[in-house]
Amino acid sequence: MVVELKEGVYWVGVVDWNIKKFHGHEYSTHRGSTYNSYLIVDEKIALVDTVLGSYSNEMIENIKKIIDIEKIDYVIANHAETDHSGGLPALMKLIPDATVVVSEKGKESIPGHYHGDWNFKVVTTGDTISLGKNSLVFVKAPMLHWPDSMMTYLTGKNILMPNDAFGQHFASSKRFNDEVDETEVYEEAIKYYANILTPFSNLVTKKLDEFVKLDIPVDIIAPSHGIIWRKDPMQIVEKYYEWASGKNDGSVVIIYDTMWKGTEQMATAIGEGIGNEGVKYKLFNMAVHDRNDVLTEVFKAKGILLGCPTMNNGLLPTIMPILEDLKGLRFKNKVGAAFASYGWSGESLKQLEDRLEGAKIEILQEGIKFKWQPTKEELGACVEFGSDFAKKMKSSE
Ligand code: FEO
Repeated sequence: MVVELKEGVYWVGVVDWNIKKFHGHEYSTHRGSTYNSYLIVDEKIALVDTVLGSYSNEMIENIKKIIDIEKIDYVIANHAETDHSGGLPALMKLIPDATVVVSEKGKESIPGHYHGDWNFKVVTTGDTISLGKNSLVFVKAPMLHWPDSMMTYLTGKNILMPNDAFGQHFASSKRFNDEVDETEVYEEAIKYYANILTPFSNLVTKKLDEFVKLDIPVDIIAPSHGIIWRKDPMQIVEKYYEWASGKNDGSVVIIYDTMWKGTEQMATAIGEGIGNEGVKYKLFNMAVHDRNDVLTEVFKAKGILLGCPTMNNGLLPTIMPILEDLKGLRFKNKVGAAFASYGWSGESLKQLEDRLEGAKIEILQEGIKFKWQPTKEELGACVEFGSDFAKKMKSSE
């Protein structure tokens, strides 16, 4: 499938309907994904980004529908992760004399992945390559989301190709935001931001400011995953500003795991207390919920409550991955507390509080723990605990 963005500019990428786990198995992609590659036909011909390696032939066949592939002069590799650069080896076999355009860091990461003896051209912010009528302009975008990331802008057509930024893992038969259900697209866009870009939020704001100050016309924002922003393209830039600010919806997420339902009973009672104060909350048992979806809820919420029983003097393995993410993703403006049930030694509460501290989540109140199955009175104390937490959270705003 080939889709024209504007005269002489084509999407020649691939829709991956069936991918359910990305980054190895690290990121869930319930709605599949796309690898967007863009072909620009001017006096010179450029390809901006490729596709996942296993889809190289589809991309190559797409390109051949438009031009003689040997006519490609430039291949822009905005970023080295193999979902965008994986098509390079197969492509470069066909066009060994083409120039591979990379950022300074890309000069390390692209050869580091493929060890290809290719003609590289290193570019930085403000550098241009004339294609004839129009030119490519490059803007380096380190940590959006890798050190090598850069964006490519096509003058005349006013198309920004920002690679991963503004993307979403969203497979669709349509390519543009005005052709699909935007609610679904935004669900994937915020998940993408929450799980990938959150730690770099300060840099996101800085980069957006830098970009907006350039005051260049943008008709289309064409990321490397998902739909292309054609209708009101700057809406996703505004959303990124909002998401980078750490704004939250004032709700609470209760993240827990349980062995014999003691901690789960506590979680439910704490939720009841939170609800009594008019605060929305959601419960997630990490033995059954998708980690990336829960992290997206964490991103949106204000309060984070962690609960886990003690096993082998520590925490249950099922809750560990999200605790690592809470630390690594460095969410802004969150408050939290911990709770636990236990049978013998009961170390888990302290360990959960250490995790909250490590994630820079402000602990609003001392944790609560009960031995064996909670009694009716102890569950009443949990309701009170939830209610106190909600009150403190509201007054901390
Ligand atoms: Fe879509 Fe950073 O790769």
